[in-house]
Amino acid sequence: MPVKIVLGSQWGDEGKGKLVDILCASASMCCRAAGGNNAGHTIVANGITYDFHILPSGLINPSCTLNLIGAGCVVHLPSFFKELGALEEKGLQNVHQRVKISDRAQVCLDLHCAVDGISEEILRSKDGDKAMIGTTKKGIGPCYSDKVGRRGVTMGMFMSENGQWEKRIRTLHQGYLGTYGTDALSQYDIEAEVSRLKQFRDELVQGNYILDATPLLSRTIGSNGKAKQADTQFGDAPDDTNGVPKADEEDSALFSNVLIEGANALLLDIDHGTYPYVTSSNTGLGGVFTGLAGLSPLTLGHPDSSIIGVVKAYTTRVGSGPFPTELNTSIPHVSAEDAHAGDELQRIGREFGVTTGRKRRCGWLDLVLVKYSCQVNCYTHLNFTKLDVLDSFAEIKIAMSYKNRRDGSEIKGFPSDLDLIENEHLEIVYKTMPGWKTETTGTREWEQLPQEAKEYIEFVEAEVGVPIKWIGTGPRREDMIVR
Ligand code: GDP
Ligand code: IMO
Ligand code: MG
Repeated sequence: MPVKIVLGSQWGDEGKGKLVDILCASASMCCRAAGGNNAGHTIVANGITYDFHILPSGLINPSCTLNLIGAGCVVHLPSFFKELGALEEKGLQNVHQRVKISDRAQVCLDLHCAVDGISEEILRSKDGDKAMIGTTKKGIGPCYSDKVGRRGVTMGMFMSENGQWEKRIRTLHQGYLGTYGTDALSQYDIEAEVSRLKQFRDELVQGNYILDATPLLSRTIGSNGKAKQADTQFGDAPDDTNGVPKADEEDSALFSNVLIEGANALLLDIDHGTYPYVTSSNTGLGGVFTGLAGLSPLTLGHPDSSIIGVVKAYTTRVGSGPFPTELNTSIPHVSAEDAHAGDELQRIGREFGVTTGRKRRCGWLDLVLVKYSCQVNCYTHLNFTKLDVLDSFAEIKIAMSYKNRRDGSEIKGFPSDLDLIENEHLEIVYKTMPGWKTETTGTREWEQLPQEAKEYIEFVEAEVGVPIKWIGTGPRREDMIVR
């Protein structure tokens, strides 16, 4: 059974959701492996704009019958139900029936969101704004910290009849009070959260949202890439599957394709990103396997399987942390002209965060970073997005290598020592290419692209050594060239 994995290659917001939505036209299962509602994936389909945070983007396609939130995810239940409601209001059918959460995913609490805010304030008060991570304040870091500290609450614990979850949450609360003091948490009401959670628990039971995902994944994508007949219905879900087709009905149609939707991006990966300015999960290829146990790596050997890196035609970042090609008047060694280009990328690309509304920092495409991302995530194909945003630029720059300004030496690869990529210490070797000064928005054929745009894309493709199969030319689902 083929599996397609879509991963963010830079610092997020590359346009993963749009590609996932397109590929889900022929996928029956769409899975999120890691992260929480820190993700924000905007999809424009049939004239409607949808925002996804914790829910898999496969929900737009009615034929995508199972949308799974995997074991590596953290789920804030108020946001989960709110997002489902918003999709329903936009006219999507059977969304409640088509979404399932792994019983091994973690419950992300309002308490975690409160602590996220407190931790950021502590960083700010000690060392100023730059020291903050600039998190989405969705409780992601505290929730993953409690997970690895073995203090957290899994969905399975939450659903258990033994009611231990409440005790665990109260213990977490006591622990945080001990760490931060009652004043810091004065706005947080444990009783209110516990009572809300009891209601959400009832909704989860009634709607049959929680399942043991591993048997299902193992049966479908766990066997050396060969399609396997699933002999029972999904996981341990009881007989009533709430409209989700049973696996023994038409197995080949049911699991025609499996799509894995990456959230966040490689440079935000807890192990491979610009630590500590990262999120708290494995957002790269590794996280797919821990978050979706049962998936066999050998499945990727199927001729129709792929690992698709989504690369924005320039670079953006939200939150703090190093950003070598950032273009802004406050960045050392950036000319006024380049700073203006940064403003233009932000304005034309409408670079505002979907989750927090923050302005995204912008800069030229960085091939040092994209090559590193290719090494870590082993992309078989790339989706180059937002090409149209470059339409009005007379010249376009691409970062080819980094040099240490202090001694002129070349920096090999993408360094883990963030000091080396601080803008004041870094010299970037750019290649300048001519722009095309022609509108490409909505172009669907490679042949119709201006020559300079083709050269830009072909140059990137040759440098990174991975085929660019999709090229985004606008936000709408149909604004895509497939080569
Ligand atoms: P994700 O988090 O990777 O899914 O990306 P986001 O949805 O956060 O950000 C990408 C933004 O660019 C969204 O508003 C998309 O609608 C939009 N977008 C995606 N692809 C293209 C494209 O090729 N051109 C333009 N102009 N916008 C795009
Ligand atoms: P999508 O899926 C862009 C960033 C935050 C912050 C850092 C840590 O839309 O590409 P967290 O709340 O996760 O603890 O924040 O990670 N971040 C993202 N930036 N796109 C995302 O997701 C992001 N998810 C997290 O801005 O700098
Ligand atoms: Mg996003």
